[in-house]
Amino acid sequence: MDKIIELIEKAEKTHDLKRDEIIELLKDEEHMNELFSAADRVRKKYVGDEVELRGLIEFSNICKRNCMYCGLRRDNSKLKRYRLTEEEIIDFARKAKGYGYQTVVLQSGEDDYYTVSRMKHIVSEIKKLDLAITLSIGEKTFEEYKAYREVNSDRYLIRIETTDKKLYEDLDPGMSHENRKRCLADLKKLGYEVGSGCLVGLPNQTIESLADDILFFKEIDADMLGVGPFIPNEDTPLGNEKKGDFYLSVKVMALIRLLMLDINIPATTAMESLVPEGRSIALKAGANVVMPNVTEGEYRKLYALYPGKICVNDTPGHCRQCISLKISKIGRTVSLTKGFRKKTAKL
Ligand code: SAM
Ligand code: SF4
Ligand code: FES
Repeated sequence: MDKIIELIEKAEKTHDLKRDEIIELLKDEEHMNELFSAADRVRKKYVGDEVELRGLIEFSNICKRNCMYCGLRRDNSKLKRYRLTEEEIIDFARKAKGYGYQTVVLQSGEDDYYTVSRMKHIVSEIKKLDLAITLSIGEKTFEEYKAYREVNSDRYLIRIETTDKKLYEDLDPGMSHENRKRCLADLKKLGYEVGSGCLVGLPNQTIESLADDILFFKEIDADMLGVGPFIPNEDTPLGNEKKGDFYLSVKVMALIRLLMLDINIPATTAMESLVPEGRSIALKAGANVVMPNVTEGEYRKLYALYPGKICVNDTPGHCRQCISLKISKIGRTVSLTKGFRKKTAKL
């Protein structure tokens, strides 16, 4: 039998691959469909046909960091900046609840305006609406993470971006890979559901380092993992670089499903920004989560991480309908739960 098919079967049966086997699968372009189908079967077996929806509130595009790939980086003077008030954020969450979401994700640049006491107020008010909350607000101290946990934030999303330390520190000037990993460890210690993930197709990123990313995710036992193709933004220093390969990012995602069975895996916005129906393709290759935008008005456009971002001219109501239709078109249903990790897998 073909070596690649054998590896896919091994992954589906044992959920265990060696680094060189992952590399071989990532390099293969002939048997992608078999890889995606295997990941789809594992998804169905361990997390079922329901798709979890998380309403994404992009509450500030102000950032003190300078990540080379990101349109929100502090040196991007072309971007008109905004920050929502505490009441506006709570109001968007209330509206998200009205659209039937059971979870909201509060995401922003690293904006120190939102002090611990402001964030605690926002989280406490949103929790009164009986919503699960994911925070995605960057690197904080243990004490800060502890404070958000004490007001019952449920999940935290912070991508490692890449496990290649040198690449990370080249692309995220002034940031340390050790601190990024410390954040993930602290969040786990504090009992958050921990979300991480990586970018695919960064300049100088190797296939070998993507295999290391996958093994790293398994090692830290992440509860949710998002994989996004890198999309160059012309208002950043990486504006002239090549964009990430959509199918390579779906392969990374499918391998994550094969090795980590019961975790939550989003079909990412960046995937669909690169390829029409990219999220549907991802949902059929291991993904079980979508994070539709519930931010209102012009803020969507201003949360400009990369060009071609989908949904920037749409409303929360429209996105909710649109995504429900896409989900039913592929024979799946929208979950009505808060979407915590279903820890069913026993290896
Ligand atoms: N500031 C927080 C942080 O960095 O963790 C949360 C917001 S940040 C905008 C969310 C994610 O956007 C990052 O983790 C990164 O992977 C992704 N991102 C930024 N620029 C991107 C680009 N040009 N292409 C694809 N994804 C990008
Ligand atoms: Fe800021 Fe996050 Fe963008 Fe980095 S990726 S510049 S931390 S918003
Ligand atoms: Fe926003 Fe389809 S999800 S338009």
